[in-house]
Amino acid sequence: MKVGVIGSGGREHALCFSLKKSDKIKEIFCFPGNAGTESIATNVDIDINDFEKLKNFIKQNKIDFILVGPEKPLVDGIVDYLEKFDIKVFGPNKIASKLEGSKIFTKKLCKKYQIPTAKFGIFLNSKTALSFLKNCNFPIVIKADGLAAGKGVYISENFTEASIAVNEIFDGKFGKAENVLIEEFLKGEEMSFFIISDGKSYKMFGTAQDHKRVLEGDKGKNTGGMGAYSPSRLETDKLNIKIIKKIIEPTLKGLKELNCEYKGFLYAGLMVVNEEPFLIEYNVRMGDPECQTLLPKLKTDFSIIIKKCIEKKLHELNIEWFDDKSICIVLCSKGYPDKYKNNIPLSLEKLNLKKNHFIFHAGTKIIEKKILSNGGRVLNIVSRSNDFKSARDDTLKILNEINWENGFYRKDIGYKVIQE
Ligand code: AMP
Ligand code: GLY
Repeated sequence: MKVGVIGSGGREHALCFSLKKSDKIKEIFCFPGNAGTESIATNVDIDINDFEKLKNFIKQNKIDFILVGPEKPLVDGIVDYLEKFDIKVFGPNKIASKLEGSKIFTKKLCKKYQIPTAKFGIFLNSKTALSFLKNCNFPIVIKADGLAAGKGVYISENFTEASIAVNEIFDGKFGKAENVLIEEFLKGEEMSFFIISDGKSYKMFGTAQDHKRVLEGDKGKNTGGMGAYSPSRLETDKLNIKIIKKIIEPTLKGLKELNCEYKGFLYAGLMVVNEEPFLIEYNVRMGDPECQTLLPKLKTDFSIIIKKCIEKKLHELNIEWFDDKSICIVLCSKGYPDKYKNNIPLSLEKLNLKKNHFIFHAGTKIIEKKILSNGGRVLNIVSRSNDFKSARDDTLKILNEINWENGFYRKDIGYKVIQE
């Protein structure tokens, strides 16, 4: 089979890597890819927002199916567009992608189907939002409705902070805003919960815990994710059942009643409070860096899983996983998530990786056979082991060997599951 992967981050390198392991896969194309995907796939330099160019390339090269990594093309309707031309795509359509594309769409669905989530209000202008905020308890959470590359969420400690958030949102910091979402601050522990669905049936696809803050001890600014471990320490059969019954199944039912089936990965960002799950947000794709942590644990041929989903035969398959622990640490450019330099060389040739060690590239490119940095999050180093401590020790050892002067990383990823 010939497959195509859309995207250029660590998640997409991990997707390509997992497909490449299969003897069913003859060729992989990555649009546009990075220095890591270049070694296992053909990188194709097409703007992923240009659906027509993508479609022409896919048709010309007779690619059997396409996997979409990031949210933006999904929310913009790439699946609907490519399917119109009889191209097989694994990912949700435009309506289903509203689960990520519109936080208010998801909140309304939660209300209609009694899905546990933080209490919320939707305000149509800053005047009503601010008058509500004058009498509420802090901290409080203020969110822009649409996609904001992880930046449209404010946790405000007092009225002054909250009013800055409301004004920034209505001033168009995250695109034109017709409303703002204000919700209760939930105190608990976060967990990323994944399912994979073919539109008819679904299966669980693992759990993980991300570390979103830039500094050790979960301090500093929010980032795309500084590292993750899998499985989440919160995962139990009892909690899984609650998540499925109270959150996942009512959501799929709600979509069905909108005449919409969900095909793709679905990522529920949860807050677990006293063993009860609350939905914080949906993402209509794999997490990054959760994907890099999870996929190396997959035993079943990944290409077969996706093929079965495309054929709507996922129920025929038993998805198997290795039973060990996995940790991913992200090597970032100094200055991330603010300003940082690109085009700094990285040298990986001397590394001697064992079979339970993986490097997934994110912001990298190759120029004249040299790897150069090309983004804030640059590499994902992943180790699998019997326990989290040795997985993290191995990962840190590799990072130490890479010894990239322009980089930094969190040494405490997984601190909640590792006793020092
Ligand atoms: P989101 O982009 O919706 O995932 O929000 C970013 C981060 O803000 C989440 O990962 C949480 O850490 C935090 N957050 C969002 N909503 C809430 C909430 N209602 N209560 C507490 N923390 C929240
Ligand atoms: N790990 C957070 C995200 O993928 O949105």
